[in-house]
Amino acid sequence: PITEKVDSVLKLMTLEEKVGQMNQYNGFYDVTGPAPSEGEASKKYENIKKGLVGSMLNIRGVKEVKAMQKIAVEQTRLKIPMIFGFDVVHGYKTVSPIPLAEAASWDLKAMEKSAEIAAAEAAVAGLNWTFAPMVDITRDARWGRVMEGAGEDPYLGSQIAIARVRGFQGDKFDAFHTAACTKHFAAYGFAESGRDYNTVDVSDNTLHNIILPPFKATVDAGVLTFMNSFNELEGIPATGNKYLQRDLLKGEWNFNGFVVSDWGSLAEMIPHGYAKDLKEASMFAANAGSDMDMESYGYLNHLVNLVKEGRVSEDKIDDSVRRILRVKFLLGLFENPYKFCDETREKETTGKQEFQDGVLDMAKKSIVLLKNENNLLPLKKSGQKIAVIGALANDKTSPLGSWRIGADDNTAVSFLEGMNAYKGNSVTYEKGADVALGNPKFIEETKINMTDKSGFDKAVAVAKNADVVIMVLGEHGLQSGEGRSRSEIGLPGVQQELLETVFKANKNIVLVLQNGRPLTIPWAAKNIPAIVEAWHLGTQSGHAIAQVLYGDYNPSGKLPMTFPRNVGQLPIYYNYKNTGRPSTDNPESVFWSHYTDVENTPLYPFGFGLSYSKFEYSNLKLDKNSFAKGGKITVSVNVKNNSKVDGKEVVQLYIRDLVASVTRPVRELKDFELTEIKAGETKTVSFEIDEKTIEFYSAKKIWEAESGDFKVFIGGDSMTKMEASFNFSN
Ligand code: IFM
Repeated sequence: PITEKVDSVLKLMTLEEKVGQMNQYNGFYDVTGPAPSEGEASKKYENIKKGLVGSMLNIRGVKEVKAMQKIAVEQTRLKIPMIFGFDVVHGYKTVSPIPLAEAASWDLKAMEKSAEIAAAEAAVAGLNWTFAPMVDITRDARWGRVMEGAGEDPYLGSQIAIARVRGFQGDKFDAFHTAACTKHFAAYGFAESGRDYNTVDVSDNTLHNIILPPFKATVDAGVLTFMNSFNELEGIPATGNKYLQRDLLKGEWNFNGFVVSDWGSLAEMIPHGYAKDLKEASMFAANAGSDMDMESYGYLNHLVNLVKEGRVSEDKIDDSVRRILRVKFLLGLFENPYKFCDETREKETTGKQEFQDGVLDMAKKSIVLLKNENNLLPLKKSGQKIAVIGALANDKTSPLGSWRIGADDNTAVSFLEGMNAYKGNSVTYEKGADVALGNPKFIEETKINMTDKSGFDKAVAVAKNADVVIMVLGEHGLQSGEGRSRSEIGLPGVQQELLETVFKANKNIVLVLQNGRPLTIPWAAKNIPAIVEAWHLGTQSGHAIAQVLYGDYNPSGKLPMTFPRNVGQLPIYYNYKNTGRPSTDNPESVFWSHYTDVENTPLYPFGFGLSYSKFEYSNLKLDKNSFAKGGKITVSVNVKNNSKVDGKEVVQLYIRDLVASVTRPVRELKDFELTEIKAGETKTVSFEIDEKTIEFYSAKKIWEAESGDFKVFIGGDSMTKMEASFNFSN
């Protein structure tokens, strides 16, 4: 019936109105104020009235959305409602941890819940479409947008992508959920040298085996929309890429939602050197299957003529419009265009306690304990003199992270506030030094002095007088994200110097990192006794970190992205290929794939994270050593919590396909279980391996399981040594 409904609307539409549905405008005037009467804004306003705008982005709040929607449903000929999109990437008003941090929880239920909270708060603010999840696989921490994804692994990334789509969309499209948007299709995360928007040049093998799986997973999970990307792939910008959008996504994968372009990405095909002008760019995009034009004004200005000239078929336009209308029907906008516009609901729902509790829970689960020598953590709850040092400790905006454009500044619980919620110890604070923002524009705006060391002496003085020093260092929340690539990824500004200076005064340091990407911190990893990765954890950041430091929450996070030793190792990832010259175990040899000045191993590997519990793995068992098509193997392992505290462990299963028609990675994550293990308890965790587990995109350019020998590894991180072997015959 939905197809019939869609067709019944489509057949009433003029070509101009159809093209209008494919046009998306950014919010361009104060909608609750007087209508614009001159200039560009007035032209846009008139276009809405003519039914030439299918969607708006960046209009938010019930009053505003209602006012805009009213124009579409009361003043246009066909009264087709608009769909309202916004970047609700990790929360709307109540902010959850940045997605990379959430990924560190490996807790799919918690991430689904977090997306559900984000969707609910956005939906009650009149929004019905969120531009998330971002599912780009990322291997280069220089890229600022690594904060927005789930890290480097296609399997973990796929599971998380599914959880997020479920959370955003729910299962019945009610007024507390939104349409989700899988982005950026595709390969945006592989920008050369981590420089945002840079050229992408990846093999078919990497594209299919590494980059595409999370995208495909969201199609199977029923995501309603996709966004294409700024980058080129095989010399063709993604927005004009027919193979990606029409052949693969809408063809092979059978995606029946619609694709929105990224902001201005249609027009960007001109500087890419692919289209000679906006008209040609519009032709390429429409023919390639890009259904909606975000802010390039290409479709609106050129598509009608392109159809008349026979350069884009009306069938293609109809296909795009059908997809857009279908999503509007599914969201219930035709039934009630104001479905998401209820001011009482907005007031009652926004920021409610349940959401605060939800993001706090998510924040605690996202924290990764990287080092804890001599059990410096958890902290004693009383009788301690604690010195807190670092500008980030006293910051109520930075923990909100990048891409939280719905939330207000200064709304996060700072680290200091979190610490002060505990009363038993005395806490003294010193800033020490500012956090240098890498972007010169920010530095200028925020009057931050990147080189100022005048606060060092005071920091040293409080450190000298303390039992424990907590140094909160890292990146400001706006130092990662779009357009914020960095070529050095250590502690910015003079923070490293501050750390080393304070260390000379007191070695009892807990380093709390707040950052949006893996950092290079080799000195700290060697010298500082305790290191806690606390990312940008959102609204409840301070409480979450304090509860972990005081042991009221036992950390269980595991890194979703490798931490390099230095920038020269990038891109670095656990699922690398062996090469023809792997390590020979001969220390004299120079003829193997390595550097002469740094190890090949990472500082902290993918999947790594400690706990206040101590987990011991033993007794890896396979119920048989081989299986054939249609069969399976059960692998089990015992995990003992050899400590006095209950804890949670992410038990990870990796495989290696030893010989295949195309070379395979040395390890690939294929399953994991986040499991609670009581103090002293031993749990047996088992996994099944079947054909699906060992499938890959082969030399035949299909997904298949090839016969051969495999290794299986189980453990608490990607470098686990516990292994067994099995064989598969096809
Ligand atoms: O959703 C974003 C995208 O990720 C980057 N460009 C702008 C879009 C809309 O804000």
